[in-house]
Amino acid sequence: MKQPIVGVIGGSGLYDMEGLTDVCEVSLDTPFGAPSDVFVTGVLDGVKMVFLPRHGRGHRLLPSEVPYRANIHGMKQLGVDRIISVSAVGSMREQIVPGHIVIPDQFFDRTQGKRNGSFFGDGIVGHVQFADPVCPDLSRLLAASARAVGATVHEGGTYLCIEGPNFSTRAESKIYRSWGVDIIGMTNIPEARLAREAEICYGTVALATDYDCWHEGHDDVSVDAVIAIIQKNVATARRIIREAVGSLVSRPGCSCGEALRYAIMTAPDAIAA
Ligand code: ADE
Repeated sequence: MKQPIVGVIGGSGLYDMEGLTDVCEVSLDTPFGAPSDVFVTGVLDGVKMVFLPRHGRGHRLLPSEVPYRANIHGMKQLGVDRIISVSAVGSMREQIVPGHIVIPDQFFDRTQGKRNGSFFGDGIVGHVQFADPVCPDLSRLLAASARAVGATVHEGGTYLCIEGPNFSTRAESKIYRSWGVDIIGMTNIPEARLAREAEICYGTVALATDYDCWHEGHDDVSVDAVIAIIQKNVATARRIIREAVGSLVSRPGCSCGEALRYAIMTAPDAIAA
């Protein structure tokens, strides 16, 4: 039975982990260009791991500039079957306090067409199901792991993905809240789409860093505030990952690994030709 290989796409400060052994740097090329950075591979408590800093080391890539297709293609080349995305987000709910963890189960796409969120095209047409955009098994495990390490966790919720790089206007923020979203970020939707097409389980550990700009009792979001909360909580994210990795089962009950089974519309002879 295939042993799990876990990919971690981290934001700032999550390039590898304490306890990781057999560490190697792997530089890969893909049909979609170069990934954000080299992949760091290793073994954590007996589980093979692959780390990639989403914005590159030193945070060089804007959310719109991240080579999402190359990143997910590289993970697939390295045999990754589960991706844990670690991301800073704004909170759109009073009860999601900066420092809390959210494990979203839905995404709402407000990006503006600058990113390519599909491997299909160029003669091959496919439509994967995306009604439930995260892996339910992996997300359940991440929520349980976050609770086990003592974090305050909100299980489920809608992640609104904006294009950025600027934060939202106050009018946008208030309107997004009226739509019923729970958190706001700039990166996860293309990753989740591509992971599904690549038949890789995808789950997000979102760290709430701010109240965006809708909350009258709190300062408007700023990079300073976001970085301060990340620095305080990166250790928690690492503990959640380690806890989750320790409880992985080799055969998940989800259907993420079969997402392409009924998705391809192009006739096989047309693909081969
Ligand atoms: N990442 C962290 N805080 C954010 C916010 N308020 N809006 C968008 N992305 C974020």
